[in-house]
Amino acid sequence: MKSKDLYNGLDKTKLPRHIAFIMDGNGRWASKRMLPRKAGHKAGVKTMRKVISDCVHMGIEVVSVYAFSTENKFRPKDEVDALMQLIRDNIYDMLKELIAEGVKVTFMGDLSFFAADIRESLDKVLRESSDGKKAVVNIALNYGGRDEILQAVNKCVQDGKTVTSEEFARYLYTADLPDPDLIVRTSGECRLSNFMLYQAAYSEIVVTKTLWPDFDRNELVDVLSEYAKRNRRYGKV
Ligand code: IPE
Ligand code: IPE
Ligand code: MG
Repeated sequence: MKSKDLYNGLDKTKLPRHIAFIMDGNGRWASKRMLPRKAGHKAGVKTMRKVISDCVHMGIEVVSVYAFSTENKFRPKDEVDALMQLIRDNIYDMLKELIAEGVKVTFMGDLSFFAADIRESLDKVLRESSDGKKAVVNIALNYGGRDEILQAVNKCVQDGKTVTSEEFARYLYTADLPDPDLIVRTSGECRLSNFMLYQAAYSEIVVTKTLWPDFDRNELVDVLSEYAKRNRRYGKV
């Protein structure tokens, strides 16, 4: 795909440095088709692979995706099991081409929740991508913004430190990443659902009604053009 097609008229100078996706609506996508929720998650993985790849090829520096929250693990066991199986089957495969192109992958969240074989796949991804310079793909797994902040506060206390906001940010999972410029949420819900609570202070938010499995390149260009029109003031005039 030539980058000309990818941008579809977008102003390259107005792209976000960091885009983050709250990939919501997999369950509703499946229900609408009389399919089990796990079929929606499977379709969601396909969309995630394409959207991450498009963002990287557009030259966006950091792409974050909210794949599994600290609350999602309290869903019915068969749904959680299906999500674990999807991670197991896809995590390396969906990233290997991007890793070969020089993308670095990071994970944010409490990974101790995951079974040993999944953690091994995550480690493999981290190891093989650690020298990547082209872009960062940051995947939130068993991630919760409140947990992240609490963990950071407790570390500061342990270190006996009073910190500045810059120093505090170093204690978060996103220590080496810029804050998200744009947070995109699909499926029409206007909430953060515990995503990047500290980092989102001045993020632009775009909510689209599209259910995540239906989110595609055209819609990506639409949300990026919406972002390009925003006037970011950071509390100033
Ligand atoms: C998002 O889709 C994927 C995860 C939270 C893992 P949902 O599963 O939340 O889908 P809806 O919101 O029920 O439609
Ligand atoms: C947010 O969606 C979590 C992910 C997309 C992984 P949820 O579906 O879990 O959030 P709520 O329940 O609508 O707030
Ligand atoms: Mg949901």
